[in-house]
Amino acid sequence: MLLLNTNIISIFYFKFTPNKTILSFLSKKDIPFYEIVPKGYIDIHSHLLPDIDDGVKTVYQSAYILEELEKIGIKKVITTPHVIQDVWSNSSQTISTKLKEMQEILISLRITNIELLSGAEYMMDDLFYDRLKQNDILPLYENYILVEMSTFGPPINLNEILFEIKLAGYTPILAHPERYSFYEDDLKKFDELKESGFLFQLNLLSVSGYYGEKIKSFAKKLIDLDYIDFTGSDIHNYHQLGILQQGFPPKIAKKITALMKKNSVFS
Ligand SMILES: [Fe+2]
Repeated sequence: MLLLNTNIISIFYFKFTPNKTILSFLSKKDIPFYEIVPKGYIDIHSHLLPDIDDGVKTVYQSAYILEELEKIGIKKVITTPHVIQDVWSNSSQTISTKLKEMQEILISLRITNIELLSGAEYMMDDLFYDRLKQNDILPLYENYILVEMSTFGPPINLNEILFEIKLAGYTPILAHPERYSFYEDDLKKFDELKESGFLFQLNLLSVSGYYGEKIKSFAKKLIDLDYIDFTGSDIHNYHQLGILQQGFPPKIAKKITALMKKNSVFS
C-alpha cells in the first residue's frame, strides 16, 4: 500500500514541483542563502510535516522544500509542528506518526542527504502545562524544547510554566523573540527571561524583512546586543522558501553565518 502511495507521490512530485522563477527576484546586492549557510547546518524550527498545522499542506510541498534545503546544504531539519490548545492540539503520537510517514516518502524520492527529525513548537498555554505535568513532550534534541508565546503578550503564569519546565528537566528555547514587539522597549524583561533559563532562537525570515521592517530592526538589535543563541528558518511554505533563498545583504550575512554555526550543538 505504501509502495503504491509513494509511486503516485513520485509521479505528482516530479510533474508539479513549482518552477524556479523565484530566482529571478534575486537581488544583485544580496548574498544567496546557499553561500551563507555553514556546512552541516541544522535547522531547528520549521513546519514541514504535512497537514498538521499551518505549515505545508501536502507531502509534495514538504518533499519539494526539503529537497531545496538539501541543495542549499542543510544537513538536518528538526521540524517543529505547532502544539496550541484548541487550534492545533497535536499529540506526541500524531507528530511521530506523521514524521515516520514523511521519512519513508523522502527515502522513496531519494531525498536522503538531508535528515528529517521532529520536535514541536509548544505555545506556553494550559495544554503545554498539562503535557509537561504528564511528561508528554517531544524535545528538539536531548533536553532542549522549543516554546513560543503569543505575539500579543506573555502568558500570565509564565513563571509557573518555567518552574514546571525546569522541574521536568528541560531547557526552553524561546522561538522568535524578535516577534514579541511588546518587549522591544523593555529589554530588561528579556534579561530576566535569559537569567531564568530561556535561550533565544531567531527566525532567519525576520532578518529578511518578511514580518515587516519593525521586526527586522528588532531582530538586528537583538543580534547586535548578543541575545541570540540559535537560529531557525520557521519555514511553512514555498513563498517563505523563496524569500530565504534570496539571501541577505553582505553586512548582515556575515553575522547570520556566525549565528547559524551555533546550531551545531544539535548535531
Ligand atoms: Fe513556528
